[in-house]
Amino acid sequence: MRVAAILLAAGQGSRYAASTGHTIAKQFVTLAGRPVIRHAAEALLPHIALLQPVGDPGLLREALDGLATLPPVEGGAERQDSVRAGLEALDALPEDQKPDLVLVHDGARPYVPGRLIEDVVAALALHPGAIPAVPVADTLKRGENGVITGTVSRDRLFRAQTPQGFRFALLRDLHRSAAAQSGSTATDDALLLESSGFSVALVPGSEDNIKLTYEEDLVRLERLIGPTLLPRTG
Ligand code: CTP
Ligand code: MG
Repeated sequence: MRVAAILLAAGQGSRYAASTGHTIAKQFVTLAGRPVIRHAAEALLPHIALLQPVGDPGLLREALDGLATLPPVEGGAERQDSVRAGLEALDALPEDQKPDLVLVHDGARPYVPGRLIEDVVAALALHPGAIPAVPVADTLKRGENGVITGTVSRDRLFRAQTPQGFRFALLRDLHRSAAAQSGSTATDDALLLESSGFSVALVPGSEDNIKLTYEEDLVRLERLIGPTLLPRTG
């Protein structure tokens, strides 16, 4: 099976910017001398045949210099548009190079374990989709105007991570139909399969597979990977 990965880096990182005051997009922040997106690429590359980066081509060429990737393509306004751009770039490859399976990974998740990537790929032998997830540990409350309005049982609840894996042609076709229906935006790719009745396997995620979203995530990633050299605010 030929496995490709789409590495997403077209986001603005607005929550991170608001939380830290940094002006650089979070996926280009440097940890231990290498950009977050480069850590993510290096984690994926040993497990896949093709890596398709999506985002600003100039910034990505610099951040991924020397790594064996396909030429970066521009993303879109929503995450779903960026995934679609990656899928279309892979679909434009010559027939004998097109992937059978595709992983979609957040460029802002630099510390994804190899074991997890292998587990997602292995689950695709039995299911058209597979995602890593970790059980919810905290009690969940629903609230309104600062008051509890309900308690959600954490029983059978999981937090979804990436890389999410799919049969390539299926995900491509579901994205094409979703794009044709204006106004439909999926927050992750698994949702496109779920809402069309395809089964998506859950494989064990990792607490270290952190998505850089807020300053506290940077602190945890620095502990795992190494220091950032950016000046800190506050
Ligand atoms: N992403 C993308 N294209 C978009 C939006 C997001 O490629 N239009 C990517 C981000 O670069 C990131 C991943 O999808 O690697 C996960 O998205 P998220 O963590 O939400 O990142 P941002 O959208 O950049 O951050 P925010 O929502 O805080 O603005
Ligand atoms: Mg976002």
